[in-house]
Amino acid sequence: MSDADAQKRAAGEAAAKLVDSGMVVGLGTGSTAAWFVRALAERKLDVTCVATSVQTEQLAAELGLRLAQLGETREIDLTVDGADEIGPGLSLIKGGGAALLREKLVWEASRRCVVIADAAKVVPTLGRFPLPIEVVAFGHKTTAARICDVLSEFEIGMAPRLRAKDGAPVRTDGGNLIYDAACGRIEEPAALAAALKSITGVVEHGLFLDLAEQALIGAPDGVATLEP
Ligand code: 5RP
Repeated sequence: MSDADAQKRAAGEAAAKLVDSGMVVGLGTGSTAAWFVRALAERKLDVTCVATSVQTEQLAAELGLRLAQLGETREIDLTVDGADEIGPGLSLIKGGGAALLREKLVWEASRRCVVIADAAKVVPTLGRFPLPIEVVAFGHKTTAARICDVLSEFEIGMAPRLRAKDGAPVRTDGGNLIYDAACGRIEEPAALAAALKSITGVVEHGLFLDLAEQALIGAPDGVATLEP
């Protein structure tokens, strides 16, 4: 196992210890969140889980976790999820795994959200990781042009790139497309988030601001806790 994977695993296992029987738990998406899901299943608690993607739903079902859809349970007590970048105040970039919309829906429906990651994800300023922006497929090139205009207002010159895999555009679980915007440095994440959200055709973006209450960061010498 690589160092990064060992750190992801340690963070996921630490987060699983935050769960008690009787809780409704949001399950994130990605390789770090998968460590949390495995560690949670091993604890054999009486919990109900809400998954943020088909991929996580399948893993949780295989491991015997009880699943419910968002809105079919009482409020979610705790959501644990990974991130692509963790910046100041626990501002985050998410969506590298194309699950940002369902993730944000579940995060916003949760009393408490904890982000788990390996140490390399912690950055002084957001933006090195390309910002995922989910758009509806209809007219997506026109929407991409609007995104470009907004990015230039924030002095971000790079055009967003349509995410593709094996020669075909990546579709999210909701059937939408993803554009990745190489921002470099995001100096004003809240203003950029609001501007992107105002574009018709943009469904969601990967800036998760003021949502994470705590971060558990795997490091070579253990797991560190960060607060906003
Ligand atoms: C999925 C996400 C993931 O949490 C993010 O991409 C981190 O993934 P990993 O834990 O595999 O590094 O936002 O949409």
